[in-house]
Amino acid sequence: MTSREQVEDFDFHGEALDDIFDDYEVMLSKCPVGHSSKYGGFTYIAKSEDIFAAEQAPETFSVAPSMMMPSMGTDTPLIPIDIDPPEHTAFRKILLPLFTPMNIAKLEPGMRLTAKELADDVLAEAAANDGVADASKLFARPMPTIVFSRLSGYPEEDWPMFDQWVDDIIYRRTAEPEVSRAAGDRLMEYFDRMIAQREAEGGEHNDLIDKVIHSEIDGRKLTHEEKLSYCYLLFLAGLDTTAWGLRASLWYLARNTAAQQRLREHPDEIPAAVEEFLRTLSPVQAMTRTCLKDTVVQGQEIRAGERVALVFGAGNRDPEIFEDPNEIRIDREDNRHLAFGGGVHRCLGSNLARKELVIGLEEFLSRIPHFESSGGEVWHGVGPLTLEISGV
Ligand code: HEM
Repeated sequence: MTSREQVEDFDFHGEALDDIFDDYEVMLSKCPVGHSSKYGGFTYIAKSEDIFAAEQAPETFSVAPSMMMPSMGTDTPLIPIDIDPPEHTAFRKILLPLFTPMNIAKLEPGMRLTAKELADDVLAEAAANDGVADASKLFARPMPTIVFSRLSGYPEEDWPMFDQWVDDIIYRRTAEPEVSRAAGDRLMEYFDRMIAQREAEGGEHNDLIDKVIHSEIDGRKLTHEEKLSYCYLLFLAGLDTTAWGLRASLWYLARNTAAQQRLREHPDEIPAAVEEFLRTLSPVQAMTRTCLKDTVVQGQEIRAGERVALVFGAGNRDPEIFEDPNEIRIDREDNRHLAFGGGVHRCLGSNLARKELVIGLEEFLSRIPHFESSGGEVWHGVGPLTLEISGV
């Protein structure tokens, strides 16, 4: 198989992620705009400046019918991610107050306590198991579930169901779309019941569900379908991405113990390291658009009607922007990465995600002594991360 053919099969989900960084090298050096035959066929854009330009041109690159390819358990357009401007602006505005740096700062003490408790669970598991513990199951996954569920108002007794829904909807959608759809239906039913119950009960909770129930758009209440759509998207955006980010950071640090020790001794360097992990091991490697009018990028024509993947993961390794782009430098400066996108749909949860990643790593590294990983576990996803922890 030639390199060119390899990129013609370009995919950004599942096992394709194992060697996706090799694909990026070929794309960036030889064919920065190209065609893949996956998912009914799409054009990909790989260079950072072209991705930023497409992100900022919603009149040419529309998010309809959905940014998700393949869909995440539903064909309903998700709010606000699948709505174009000008309607998008009002839908996004409703959520802004929840995610301001000030509001996120208020969550910090609870977040830190959660991280400490979960790190203690990792230690306890290691102590009972010859120093071995699964840091994904015990730390990276539960931390965002707890933090986001509290912010949202999801009852604690429901939390144990969430991982399975995320796994089915997000991680089985390419190989088993029917499983993803069935789980999507269950998640919609869950929010359907929760919204109805909250509306019947009334009262002030100051959480995400309250925000969705009481918000108005253009002087009218949201419809029930709109409320469901917000809840559904935020659930899928808030849990899995941050879990992946935490797991990928620990995956790297288990294999690069000098970096691990440096961050343990100098926690003030963790925020820069987090940006570098987001750049190189990002949870969202690509998002999709639909081209609305014939256009040319890097000399390649993209026709109206074509689906287009903005490959953030490739843009994040663009040698024109980043020196030694494939090298993870935990002290990299001027890290203008695309992990959170870069246009009107730029991630609304980035302040929350960054805070969780920084606090998660601070607490993990301060409580867990030297750890390594001998497993052949992949860098991506939210599967197990088996650590061997010294001296427990
Ligand atoms: C490391 C964690 C995360 C990453 C890497 C990430 C990445 C992204 C990306 C790439 C986009 C699309 C940007 C675009 O196409 O321009 C996005 C949108 C979004 N994200 Fe995140 N995200 C993360 C965490 C979160 C969290 C924790 C939340 C909320 C709790 C969240 C909520 C959203 C929302 C609401 C949108 C849609 C914004 C809009 O359409 O205006 N994300 N995110």
